[in-house]
Amino acid sequence: MSEIDPAPSRSPNSILPSAAGMIVLMMLGLILAGFVSYLWLREPMPPPPAEVAGDPLLSEGRAIYLGRCATCHGLAGRGDGPIAANLIGPPVGNLTDAEWKHGDRPDQVLAVIEKGVPNTRMEGWSNVLDPPEARAVAAYVYYLAKRPVPEELRKPG
Ligand code: HEC
Repeated sequence: MSEIDPAPSRSPNSILPSAAGMIVLMMLGLILAGFVSYLWLREPMPPPPAEVAGDPLLSEGRAIYLGRCATCHGLAGRGDGPIAANLIGPPVGNLTDAEWKHGDRPDQVLAVIEKGVPNTRMEGWSNVLDPPEARAVAAYVYYLAKRPVPEELRKPG
């Protein structure tokens, strides 16, 4: 042991108190950096337009759509969701097109949503969405396509 050892009483495994303070500060810094990048990188959720915010059915449908459908169908329904280009099988299609491939009656749209389309990546959602939820998201699909929301989606017959 040399005579100039600054802290001869410390055990060999201990670290300088100033270094310990630095490590705590660095750890706090990492936690802060993680939190800041979480806030920065998380999906920006655009606020709902007034006509959606003022309509409970469309508000519910929008929440379901953004959570479950937008990855493929895209935020505005144009078929350009983040995973759409990587899907195998028929393309997602544009829900805002004038024609819907599987028909535009509410029972047809609901059938696609609940049962899916065989041999495509459009799966049936009846295990996940209960009937009122399926009607709400169907209503939101009409809204995205700028079509009037059929009354029977509001008052099931
Ligand atoms: C994994 C990707 C994927 C997800 C998630 C998805 N879809 Fe689809 N969807 C598709 C594909 C692919 C088609 C085209 C099927 C075809 O060609 O017949 C489709 C077709 C549709 C159609 C028929 C459009 C037409 O032209 O007739 C509707 C309506 C629809 N989806 C609604 C929804 C709703 C509502 C959700 C969420 C609950 C959803 N989809 C989730 C991939 C997806």
